[in-house]
Formats: sequence, C-alpha cells, structure tokens
Amino acid sequence: MKFFIDTAYIDEIKEAAAMGIIDGVTTNPSLVAKTGRTFRDVLVEICDVVKGPVSAEVVATTCDDMMQEARALAALRPNIVVKIPLIAEGLKAVRLCAQEGIKTNVTLCFSATQALLAAKAGASYISPFVGRVDDISSGGMDIVADIIEIYRNYDFDTEVLVASVRHPIHVLEAARMGADVATCPHKVLMQLVKHPLTDIGLERFLADWEKVPK
Ligand code: G3P
Repeated sequence: MKFFIDTAYIDEIKEAAAMGIIDGVTTNPSLVAKTGRTFRDVLVEICDVVKGPVSAEVVATTCDDMMQEARALAALRPNIVVKIPLIAEGLKAVRLCAQEGIKTNVTLCFSATQALLAAKAGASYISPFVGRVDDISSGGMDIVADIIEIYRNYDFDTEVLVASVRHPIHVLEAARMGADVATCPHKVLMQLVKHPLTDIGLERFLADWEKVPK
C-alpha cells in the first residue's frame, strides 16, 4: 500500500519524506488555507520535495472552469494530480482530463456508487472520505470494501485512495482490504511509528548500556 501525506505544511512533508515512508501528497483548500501561503507557492515547493503524485484541488464548479484550472495546475509540475469534486460537472471534467492525459483524484466521495461513476469517467484515483462517514455514525471503511470489490469485478484502473483518515485503525483496515493508497495527516503517520513497548525497550537498552564497562 502506498502512503500519501495529507497536509500542505512543508515541514511535515519534509519530515515524512526523510523517513522514506511517503509516496505522494494530498492537499485540499482547507489544508492550504491553514498555511497562510499562496496555493502556487505551496504546490511548487511540495513538488520540489516529493516526486510522487501531488494532489491539487480545483475550486471551480463548472466543467469549463474546472478544465481551465486543471490545465493550469497540470502545467505547473509533471507530478501534479488534479483533484476534482464528485459532482456531475466534475465527472465531465474528469472525462476530459483523461482524454488530455491529465491525472485526476476524484474527491468528496461518500458512496461506492459514486466511486463506480468516477472510475467510468476515467479517474486516476478515487478518494472515499472515511472519517467524515464515521462522523455521521456510518461505516467509512465499509464503503472502501465495496469500492475495492466493485473495481475488482470490472478491472477498473482507478486507484482507491483512502482519505479523511483519522487514526491508525483506518490505515490497518485499508491495508488489510488491499486499498492502493492511504493518505494520512502527519499526526496519524507519527501514531503509526509509535509503540509504547518500543519506547520502554529502548529506554531499558540505553540504561543497561550505561552499565557496560567503557
Ligand atoms: O484527504 C481528504 C482529507 O483531507 C479530509 O480529511 O479530516 O478533513 O475529513 P478531514
């Protein structure tokens, strides 16, 4: 399974990249807004650090306007993947992007049938938002399982990118289901690293090392 980091903070991206654990980056307008920087500056800097796919979201809501944004974003760096919302106009734009060779990440997906449409339109990635589904007392990961089953049934090339990941159990379940990608906030990546027995074990080894004659 590939790991993407879901952030627009360059320091978080650099740290995860240095650990060799990330294959790409996802951003969205909310994440970019938190940085206080311009969208272009943030994107270009991220693409200089990470050579894998970097998702950049359009903010238009009509197909024509989305396509203008998509072409401009794709022209910025070769590894940019254009993030498009799962609405009717968005599907039209996904289809045109596929015809023009622009990679897309279809975002704000909350059902397996939406995901089926995205695959038919030619999406490179589908992003089911599991945490937000859990938030309304439904099963986010159940949707991911359905999507994986459906995509396998029909051999779609669209990659399943588990998004809105909130905790390590989402990642564990995504990996067990065979999802292609999980995009995780920096905090969740660090939670995956940590284990209390690792910390206790290290502390004991270091204390015992002090007893070894030097
Ligand atoms: O990748 C989508 C993600 O950024 C949404 O996460 O936590 O805002 O639901 P969240």
